[in-house]
This record gives sequence, structure tokens and C-alpha cells, in this order.
Amino acid sequence: MRDRGLISGAALDSEKQFEAALRPSRLQEFTGQSRLKENLAIAIEAARQRGEALDHVLLYGPPGLGKTTLANIISGELNVAFDQTAAPILQKKLDLTGVLTNLREKQVFFIDEIHRLLPDVEEILYSALEDFRVDLMVGTGAGARTHSMQIQRFTAIGATTRQGLISAPLRGRFGLVLRLNPYDIDDLTSIVLRSAALLQVKVDEMGAAEIARRARGTPRIANRLLRRVRDYAQVRAAGQVTHDVSVTALDMLEVDRYGLDEIDQKIMATILEKYAGGPVGIKTIAASIDEEEATIEDVYEPYLMQLGFLDRTPRGRVATRRAFDYFKIAPPAVMPNQPGLF
Ligand SMILES: Nc1ncnc2c1ncn2[C@@H]1O[C@H](COP(=O)(O)OP(=O)(O)O)[C@@H](O)[C@H]1O
Ligand SMILES: [Mg+2]
Repeated sequence: MRDRGLISGAALDSEKQFEAALRPSRLQEFTGQSRLKENLAIAIEAARQRGEALDHVLLYGPPGLGKTTLANIISGELNVAFDQTAAPILQKKLDLTGVLTNLREKQVFFIDEIHRLLPDVEEILYSALEDFRVDLMVGTGAGARTHSMQIQRFTAIGATTRQGLISAPLRGRFGLVLRLNPYDIDDLTSIVLRSAALLQVKVDEMGAAEIARRARGTPRIANRLLRRVRDYAQVRAAGQVTHDVSVTALDMLEVDRYGLDEIDQKIMATILEKYAGGPVGIKTIAASIDEEEATIEDVYEPYLMQLGFLDRTPRGRVATRRAFDYFKIAPPAVMPNQPGLF
């Protein structure tokens, strides 16, 4: 995933520790996503009552919305072991076969970035997920044959930012497919207040809300911004994060009022300026900003749509009146998505 410019590579380790410290460990502490939480709570309770492994779970949504956190929470709620890997690490069939044959009954096996599995590695997963079997090669040369081995019934949790890149056979093997959506300001405010309490930073409601507004619908960004604002408050404001302190610190960091990052801005500039508000096809946008179509659709558009800056129409993407206003560009006489209204 692209670095969003808020941290440098050298800062990655402390960044990871910081995130881990703020990670909720129970479903109840996980803010927002209420439909998803309810579905999950029911599935967990049912599996617990039956004494069985939970169905396989596929979590998808933009980066920083809580996929890794949820995978950990699920294993905690089920009170089972947790092992994790990331698809890019699994280079050979043997790597995955080795892990699968060592899994314990009912445990969680988390596969991050599952859209990046190599095809022959992915194929191993099919029978593991469906029948809890893996095929092993026994012997060598002419005498070699495959032996199908039973493995423990486990729960796979896959996470992806790019659901469009998951093959149908893989997707079909997950009993629970759960989508994470960008968080609203209230939820993000709660997350900032919770993190502030854990970090022992004094933040008032308005100070937290300003951080929330600029967090791009994303808890990870909210927590990072809180960290930067805390530094500012410590040095310049006696450690108190009020609304004014948040605004000054975030403006100094050049964080956009709606948290828009460089790519969001490029997408909007393309539609608004180059194509007069649209409609413009996703392919054209992708080519024009040199970004993959699927990334734009899965990672960037959900937030731009949540803000009400962008609509998807059958003829392409169109900018809204609100987007013209925010970017201070004069709208055309007739808005593309609302013919005749202006
Ligand atoms: N619903 C939530 N409530 C509280 N904190 C959250 C929530 N979702 C994410 N976070 C925080 O945001 C950070 C990023 O979450 P993570 O699970 O790593 O996201 P993802 O795996 O989707 O990229 C973590 O520090 C986590 O504590
Ligand atoms: Mg993650």
C-alpha cells in the first residue's frame, strides 16, 4: 500500500507499536460498523454454542479501517489461537502446505492481502478451506504420487483492500463476507477520545471532532493525527488539545479540511477540471492520474462518495455541486448528474 505521507519508512517500527497499543481487543470496544459487528457477533455465538470452528471470514475494505484488528478480535472472542501470514510471503505451495498441516483445531489463521496469492498457492487453499484437506506429494520420480491429507478444522480469515481482485472460487469458500465502510465523524470522534485516554492525552470533544473530520473516514489516520496534534499541544499548548489547538496543528501539518490526500485530490481535479465535472470513465481517470482502476474503486472512491463529492453513474463518474464548491471551481451551467436543475 502506498505510504500516505504521514510517516516515513524509518518511523515504521514505532508506528506499528503505536497501532498495536491502540488496538481494541474485544468486539464491544470496536467502534462503529454496527451491521458488521452484529453479523459477526451472531456467527461467533453460534459457533461457540455448537463447539465448532467459525465459518471462514473474508474482510474487505480500504486500508486502516480495522481488518487486522477484527481478525485479532475474532480469535479473542472465540478464545482460540491466532496465526497470521500475508499472501506476498507465501511464495511456494510448500510454504502454505506446511502452515496448514500445523494448524490446531478451531484456531484462526489470518491471511492478509489475500488478493495477492499466487495462483498455484491459491489452489492449495481451495481444498483446505472446503474439505480441510491438503494434497501432499509423496515419493519422487516415477513413483511419486499425491496423498490427500486431512487437516484440523480451522477458521481462515482473509483480508483485502481489493475485493475486485479476489477470484470467484476463492471468494465462494468464505461463509462470511464482511465489508468495512469509511467511518462517520461521530465514530471517529469516539475512536480519538478512546485513543487519547489510552495515551493519557487531554483532548476535549471539539478537539477530537476536528481530528476526526480530517481523518479521511479512517481510524488509522485519526490515531496518527492525534499523535501529531499531541506533540504540538505538548510543546505549544500545555498539553491541552482544544478545538483551536487541533485546527492550528492540523493546518500546520497541511492536513486538508476533509483529510483528502494527494490521490483523492488528483482524482477530483481530473473530473472537475479536465472533464468539466464528468461523466468520465474510470479507465480514463486511472490513465490520467497513473493509478490502477481497482485501487481507485476500492480504496479511494468509497471516501469521496461518503463525502458526497462523487457519484457513480452508468456513464461514468460525475462530480457533485458540493465538489465544485469545495475546490472553488465554477460549476457548468447544467450539472452533469442533475440535468436541468441549474
Ligand atoms: N473500529 C475501530 N475502533 C477503534 N480503533 C480502530 C477501529 N478500527 C481500526 N482501529 C485502529 O486503527 C488502526 C488500524 O487498524 P487495522 O486493523 O490495522 O486496519 P487494516 O488492517 O484494515 O488496515 C489500529 O491501530 C486500530 O486500533
Ligand atoms: Mg491490516
